[in-house]
Amino acid sequence: MFGFSIILLSLCSPLAIAQSDDNLGLKNGYLSLATKNFELKLVKDAGVLVSLKPAGDSFDFLPFDYLRYRARNGQYHWGDITYRYREASTGGNDGGRWIDGDSAAARKPVRGKTNEQGALVTSVLTPTLPSNSPLNVTRRWTEVSGGDLGLRFTIRNQGRAAIELGSLGFPTEFNSIFTGRPAAEMARVCSLSDPYIGMHAGHIRVAPTKGNGPALVVTPLIIGESNNSNTTPMEAYRNLREDHYDEQTAYGSQTFEGLYEWQVLTKAWAENEWSGVEPWNAPSSRVLQPGESLEFGLRFSVAKGGVRELDSVVESTGTPVAVGIPGYIISQGSSAMLHLQSTSDVESITANPSGALTATRQAAGRYAVTPGGSAWGRARLEIQYGDGKLQTVHYYISKPGTEAVSDLGRFSTTEQWFNDTTDPFGRAPSVMTYDYEAKAIVTQDPRTWVAGLSDEGGAGSFLAAAMKQAVQPSAEEVAKLESFVDGVLWKTIQTTDFSVRKSIFYYEPSKVPGFKYNPSFDWSVWWSWNKQASYAINRAYDYVHVAATYWALYRVARAYPALTQSHTWDFYLNQAYQTIMRSMKSDVGYNRVGLMGETVFGEILADLKREGEASKASSLEQSMRTRATQWNSEEVPFGSEMAWDSTGQEGVYYWTNYFGFKNTALKTVNSVLGFMPALRGKLQRIERQIHHYGSGLNSLVLLSAFRRDPSDAYLLRVGYGGVSGPLSSIHADGFAAASFHSWPDTLKWDGYSGDYGPNFVGLALGSGTYVADMGDGDGGIGLTAFGGSLKVEPGGRVTVTTSDPVRRRVFIGPLGVLLNIDAGIISEFSYEAGGSISVTLSQLGGVAKTDAAVLWIETPSSSVNYTVTTAGLQKARGGWRVPLSTDATVEISSV
Ligand SMILES: *[C@@H]1O[C@H](CO)[C@@H](O)[C@H](O)[C@H]1NC(C)=O
Ligand SMILES: *[C@@H]1O[C@H](CO)[C@@H](O)[C@H](O)[C@H]1NC(C)=O
Ligand SMILES: *[C@@H]1O[C@H](CO)[C@@H](O)[C@H](O)[C@H]1NC(C)=O
Ligand SMILES: *[C@@H]1O[C@H](CO)[C@@H](O)[C@H](O)[C@H]1NC(C)=O
Repeated sequence: MFGFSIILLSLCSPLAIAQSDDNLGLKNGYLSLATKNFELKLVKDAGVLVSLKPAGDSFDFLPFDYLRYRARNGQYHWGDITYRYREASTGGNDGGRWIDGDSAAARKPVRGKTNEQGALVTSVLTPTLPSNSPLNVTRRWTEVSGGDLGLRFTIRNQGRAAIELGSLGFPTEFNSIFTGRPAAEMARVCSLSDPYIGMHAGHIRVAPTKGNGPALVVTPLIIGESNNSNTTPMEAYRNLREDHYDEQTAYGSQTFEGLYEWQVLTKAWAENEWSGVEPWNAPSSRVLQPGESLEFGLRFSVAKGGVRELDSVVESTGTPVAVGIPGYIISQGSSAMLHLQSTSDVESITANPSGALTATRQAAGRYAVTPGGSAWGRARLEIQYGDGKLQTVHYYISKPGTEAVSDLGRFSTTEQWFNDTTDPFGRAPSVMTYDYEAKAIVTQDPRTWVAGLSDEGGAGSFLAAAMKQAVQPSAEEVAKLESFVDGVLWKTIQTTDFSVRKSIFYYEPSKVPGFKYNPSFDWSVWWSWNKQASYAINRAYDYVHVAATYWALYRVARAYPALTQSHTWDFYLNQAYQTIMRSMKSDVGYNRVGLMGETVFGEILADLKREGEASKASSLEQSMRTRATQWNSEEVPFGSEMAWDSTGQEGVYYWTNYFGFKNTALKTVNSVLGFMPALRGKLQRIERQIHHYGSGLNSLVLLSAFRRDPSDAYLLRVGYGGVSGPLSSIHADGFAAASFHSWPDTLKWDGYSGDYGPNFVGLALGSGTYVADMGDGDGGIGLTAFGGSLKVEPGGRVTVTTSDPVRRRVFIGPLGVLLNIDAGIISEFSYEAGGSISVTLSQLGGVAKTDAAVLWIETPSSSVNYTVTTAGLQKARGGWRVPLSTDATVEISSV
């Protein structure tokens, strides 16, 4: 993530805006209006929406305070429209040229009439659209029954020829402008939005960045009370280009992602800019005969109680709601649940590609979704309702979780294995960054760290390979990683006092006379560090990856002693400990903020205690307590090296929760919820997260919060979605990509392995089988397993088979009990409400074997203690030692 810095300029004082920059007509004032549920402002001249607050609340979902920077032509707002059309007769084979229309391109006043035919404001947009257009567009702002705000467009063909409308989009705007805002202000005023590109069920969820307070949702507006299917599908969500780059808002940057539009028709784009890309939905167009018109509309609704209420608000608008459990990433050989709530019955469900998925009805509105035999990758279900609505649900099919993890281990330690011991930088042997498009290891990159085995971008690959051993060791892979530790990590990446360098590759030809730097790269950029800059040891983030690597090898050495040849477990645990302590010294920067992946520090602390290393445990605890105490005193403790991002939350949550700073821990959970909505298509989120690995790491926050409060299943839904993301990044051959590009002209995986590693840390530390009671009654989902399949036996005993990618962690929500093992797998477990638990341990075929595992029992949300009652098991390291010579069933009961 490191390497691209945005220079933030402080806000200019709010001087009067120059005439030339006021194409919106701000100087002529606003119309302040209200519906039952909202207070809103339209610009009088342009009639676009620029402020939207829930009634009786001062929170604005739109950037009204930055409006003066967004008043020029080409800057979009709610109420704008873009389209492409051609004469229908020119379509087809000769593919007539599409003609563009855009209400923001060259604004002219379109002062509307108020209170005409039930609308708040009605405007004919002709003046602000290209002249000579056959399209006559009328826009109405309305109060929808129930008090919501409606936005309606009537598009009439007033020409003489039939026309084909090949694109139609409604620009959206939210206050996602972080630019120039101090952290506390950003947390207070901004919001983040996520689309569900699901045709008639499509909608946009908008959550305040602080994570609590009212949330907003934009759904299709049903036009005409009697026809439920007369609504506006979301066929695509297109990123809008704005040509004005200004430093006040920094459109399209790390601090302001930019805006999108709700696209109803996309054929004209699919034929051109997006050709060759597999879109979310089938591209369509509409033909309008002379005199014919089309009506579309959107509806704004508020969820007063916040993000957890969004599903029920969406349903109340007549929009179908889908809830996928455990989410939308399904492993081959397992099935997912899909719960559909709609006012109309399901008429048919089909898969695209055909056969990729099968949906089997199990009860009203409840389907089991199963991947077809060899299906892999993206697939969607198309659900046709009796009232004519079409809903699409997007899935990603992965290999069975443990198999994908095994593939990753193999790929990273073979294809990514760099063994050129003549390398003058001392990088061999190691697991290096890989370029999947070139099918080659990245041995040079002007971002030196990417080829320099440090930073997220360069350490990511060996980090993932090592963490894989912690959850599923392989003798051959462990041997290679041990040679990496002795030959590179504990030799060149680290110095003898445990410092971690920022990169061991550098650009300084005089220092490596025989080495040929690629002349086609630009090495003059500031991030092409020379040796001294590369060897700096002052970035705390880099230490986490190293500590995690040692910890993973400690776990292997401890649970599978036959697999490590170079060192015993105590060496690796001490290396992990010393590396953390070194990172906390005053010559290292960023150690006062939360660090990506530092949940592993907590694992290291727990293992020091279990090993009886009391004095080391106490020093580490002391050091973490200082940080947690500081965060507890800060209004917004989520600092980072970037202007704004979401990398600090995981560490802040871990330690404030650990030390019992309840309010700060809760504030952190809310902050994570603010940017991780329970989205439908998993894939968009990967890119719409400002940092892709934020998905895997921040899910650790939500999963932990769920373990402390299993009544809040929303935490699990969002957290489990996030922790599944890193599984979908693993390709069929085991290569794992850093991220997925979600803009509609790309829709594909990144070619670099890059900083995937931290995402895999999230998978390794968070994956498990989680049982949750999701409520009964109408629309209730009942008792459910995420990452497993659950059965309730006659008599009430609940039996669960695990299927998550790790299979070593089980959380039984209704009992508040967490079970963990350090070797083998938990193949299944069962429990009774009274507290008797039975858990079966075994070893996966094709994976290294060992003699015994340690089983730990924790009760994060129960005041009842549990103990092992199976005779003959011995206590070990704070848990119980379970022999694994055959499958072992362990009985546990409350005391
Ligand atoms: C567009 O349609 C509106 C509403 O029917 C009508 O009042 C207006 O005159 C039309 N505009 C033009 C330029 O024909
Ligand atoms: C309802 O509206 C849809 C979409 O505009 C249209 O296709 C359908 O024919 C309409 N049905 C009725 C009964 O009017
Ligand atoms: C390096 O790895 C390649 C591919 O695995 C192998 O063919 C080669 O023999 C190795 N070279 C050394 C010096 O180990
Ligand atoms: C549970 O265990 C803890 C720690 O050993 C102990 O302090 C506590 O009293 C126990 N509670 C019950 C109900 O036995």
